[in-house]
Amino acid sequence: MKKILNLIEEKMRTAFETCGYEASYARIVLSNRPDLCEYQCNGAMAAAKAYKKKPIDIATAVVENLTGDEMFSEITAVMPGFINIRLNPQYLADYLGGMQKEEKLGLEETGHGETIIVDYGGANVAKPLHVGHLRSAVIGEAVKRMGKFLGYNMIGDVHLGDWGLQMGLIIEELRDRKPDLVYFDESYTGEYPAEAPFTISELEDIYPTASGKAKEDPAFKERAQTATFKLQNGYAPFTAIWKHIMSVSLADLKKNYGNLDVHFELWKGESDAQKYIPWLIQDLQDKGLAHESDGALVVDIAEPTDSKELPPCIVRKSDGAALYATSDLGTIIEREKDFQPVKYIYITDKRQELHFVQVFRVARKAGYVKPETEMIHIGFGTMNGKDGKPFKTREGGVMRLERLIADIDSAVYDRIMENRTVSEEEAKETAKTVGLAALKYGDLTNQASKDYVFDLDRFISFEGNTGPYILYTIVRIKSILNKYQETQAETAPADAKILPAVGNAEKDLMLRLARFNDVMENAFAETAPHKICQYIYELSNAFNSFYHDNRILAEEDKARQASWIQLITLTKDVLTTCIHVLGFEAPERM
Ligand code: ARG
Repeated sequence: MKKILNLIEEKMRTAFETCGYEASYARIVLSNRPDLCEYQCNGAMAAAKAYKKKPIDIATAVVENLTGDEMFSEITAVMPGFINIRLNPQYLADYLGGMQKEEKLGLEETGHGETIIVDYGGANVAKPLHVGHLRSAVIGEAVKRMGKFLGYNMIGDVHLGDWGLQMGLIIEELRDRKPDLVYFDESYTGEYPAEAPFTISELEDIYPTASGKAKEDPAFKERAQTATFKLQNGYAPFTAIWKHIMSVSLADLKKNYGNLDVHFELWKGESDAQKYIPWLIQDLQDKGLAHESDGALVVDIAEPTDSKELPPCIVRKSDGAALYATSDLGTIIEREKDFQPVKYIYITDKRQELHFVQVFRVARKAGYVKPETEMIHIGFGTMNGKDGKPFKTREGGVMRLERLIADIDSAVYDRIMENRTVSEEEAKETAKTVGLAALKYGDLTNQASKDYVFDLDRFISFEGNTGPYILYTIVRIKSILNKYQETQAETAPADAKILPAVGNAEKDLMLRLARFNDVMENAFAETAPHKICQYIYELSNAFNSFYHDNRILAEEDKARQASWIQLITLTKDVLTTCIHVLGFEAPERM
């Protein structure tokens, strides 16, 4: 369905033209004075300058042209030249009726199967997932689902950090712990065992120990660097260990991401990019883009329009090693070969901003992506503790994601058990669903680029701008609908439909529902999940005011009651769709 704003604008354009003014002045916006009107057009002010007339005269002429139109219950020109509009309640009710009939609730898809790659998650293999990876996973999953809902072919790639020094560190720590393993026997020429020589819990201990050792013991660090170098150059025993690290780690990562309801189409990583690198380096040189600088190979990326000086992108270090940027360029070459996406969306910590500016510019200069291909980096801020510093455990260590989730679930569980309306078992399940919503909504509701404070008590509260509040609203609607089904369904008129609003809260709820398609489209166009959060928070408030004003189940006018049932069903459907797109679900009860 066309968006309400556009439908109004179409009428307004015709009116402007009929009155002799250019249609481009007919822009409609949501009113910022809901007490005065619902929508407004401020174009008469700009037109006045161009046509050398008084704004109010232009506004008055346009309004006269539209007076009597069935779309509006009120359209007025007010000083100095605003056009204030209220939608006819019947028109609005019919619009919502139209939404009910459509699978996507009136959304007009902007995508037609075009491929978009979302690079998110970014876990580093064998290192524990910590809260820093949380934001990437949560925001990326939401962005991916938003695009999918709008009709794009979204491909999410976790892009693992699986080719770095951590691998050498693990190999050398493993050697210290288990020197007799065949991988360390240089004279061994047989097959390598299929079974990994460590479990996930061992591996989780090996990495931090090794990384600690490397900080203290330069000789150990050097061994790790050598091992990494050998691995990267295809040394068979280390490749065999690497494969074990990958399989043990991946199983664990999949479990962890699964608990977050985060799912990737691709489980690629930096290691997959390596095979493109020799060609890439050669190509950048052949094209005259890469040049030597202090022994390293670099590509200049500065442009005259830059407001600050941007350093060149290093694609090969003086010791011959490839870098993070080289991997990302190699990955782009693979993605172009496999998918030819129309757009790339990378979601990482905002401290990586320069890296992506460099990578995008090199990719464009070298022609690895088409000029029209969009490349965007969503850089997010830090999740801080209440002290304003990056979030830590109570003991001051890095908070692991698993532990964070467990803490939230248990706090939510306690809250649910306070009411004691459900069994312990059900409370446990519900706590997981609500906990995830608390965590994800708490993150997504902030504009991504901003830092935010992780405040457990606030996030799990059933009141205020929180995930649990949104879920609570959905659960409340479900419970009204159930009661209605049980007690009065037989009195319901057969052709129940949404009737024009009679009350203010009712109309407000209806106006907000009608914005659904607009909000969804915009939120994705701006890669801004927080706009959906803002919308569902306001929609939930609107529902709760409406519910407060009206005794739905006690209403005696059965046609009115049936209309309300339709209205709240649509409210539930819109909310449920929105939270699914954001990446969480509502329980049946809570
Ligand atoms: N593994 C990286 C990190 O932990 C994030 C990867 C992001 N994606 C990318 N294509 N560079 O910082």
